[in-house]
Amino acid sequence: MGKILVTGAAGFIGSHTTDQLLAAGHEVLGVDNFRTGHRSNLEAALRSTCFRLEEADVSAAGVMDGLVKEFRPDAIIHLAALVSVQESIQDPDLNQRLNVTATELVAAAARAHGVGRIVFASSAAIYGDTTDLPIDEETPKQPISPYGEAKLASEGILFAAAEQSGLTARCHRYFNVFGPRQDPASPYSGVISIFARRYRDGKPVTIYGDGKQTRDFISVHDVARANVLAATRPGIVSGAANICTGRATSLLDVVRVFAAHYPAVPAPSFAEARKGDIIHSLGWPVRAKEQLGFVAEVPVESALSELIKTN
Ligand SMILES: NC(=O)c1ccc[n+]([C@@H]2O[C@H](COP(=O)([O-])OP(=O)(O)OC[C@H]3O[C@@H](n4cnc5c(N)ncnc54)[C@H](O)[C@@H]3O)[C@@H](O)[C@H]2O)c1
Repeated sequence: MGKILVTGAAGFIGSHTTDQLLAAGHEVLGVDNFRTGHRSNLEAALRSTCFRLEEADVSAAGVMDGLVKEFRPDAIIHLAALVSVQESIQDPDLNQRLNVTATELVAAAARAHGVGRIVFASSAAIYGDTTDLPIDEETPKQPISPYGEAKLASEGILFAAAEQSGLTARCHRYFNVFGPRQDPASPYSGVISIFARRYRDGKPVTIYGDGKQTRDFISVHDVARANVLAATRPGIVSGAANICTGRATSLLDVVRVFAAHYPAVPAPSFAEARKGDIIHSLGWPVRAKEQLGFVAEVPVESALSELIKTN
């Protein structure tokens, strides 16, 4: 079994990834500064003797170098980031530090101490607002936010490190991830986490536009499994792949599932579409299947039902 260092372990995707790594018998060092993550997400992991949590800032000089030197991981799964597109626009310097400098420090530490693999949380945001669907990995990269630009720059940093040192870099371009532990606190969080909280509290949701807009929603359990595969499966080579389902789900489809579970909650209200919101987004999932053997398995409806039960 392997030793895996997970940055952003206390976050939404990081905690599920950690849980799956531990269930598969790996030893995990989680690193998080709790900027947006929560210790409570790691409640189960913290009971495992194979898990250690280090409270630290991966973007601070020397932190990753010290931890990698001491823990000697076989792979690093780098998920820690400034995750809000809006915040990246408001504070581009912070975005640069948390989403680019941090990646440089992760890559340098991996190179200095002979880590074999880095798995990186990239994003469909690197494709910008393309209307050329479905989006495959050859779709032009035209990010429209500092967040998307930083994810693209990080991919470049990791592929350069891979070329220069022989480590394997896997960049996962996640589409719209949803599931338990996603924090609905910010108005820019995933729409499903916001809907889940509203329905749980008995309040109607607001749909901007007609609700027919679609996204490629993917369960966090599938995303965590893709991370585990990329970090631990033998024989994987460097590359970037979309992590998506290849299926379009509309907001009306999502609301239908919530409404069926919460019949007492008033029907949604509709408001004018927000400026800049894209209407449709859909990924093409074939490369992840070819390069990682990864295919999303959790149907959106059952993932929504699970979310509602844990809500
Ligand atoms: N959720 C999605 O739909 C989605 C889509 C595309 C990409 N991503 C990427 O996936 C990764 C995980 O996102 P998430 O949705 O789980 O968000 P999250 O906010 O729940 O997780 C990010 C974690 O990183 C930690 N963190 C942030 N900066 C840090 C630092 N400097 N040092 C240590 N820890 C730090 C936070 O405290 C948090 O626990 C991010 O890189 C994000 O950009 C997410």
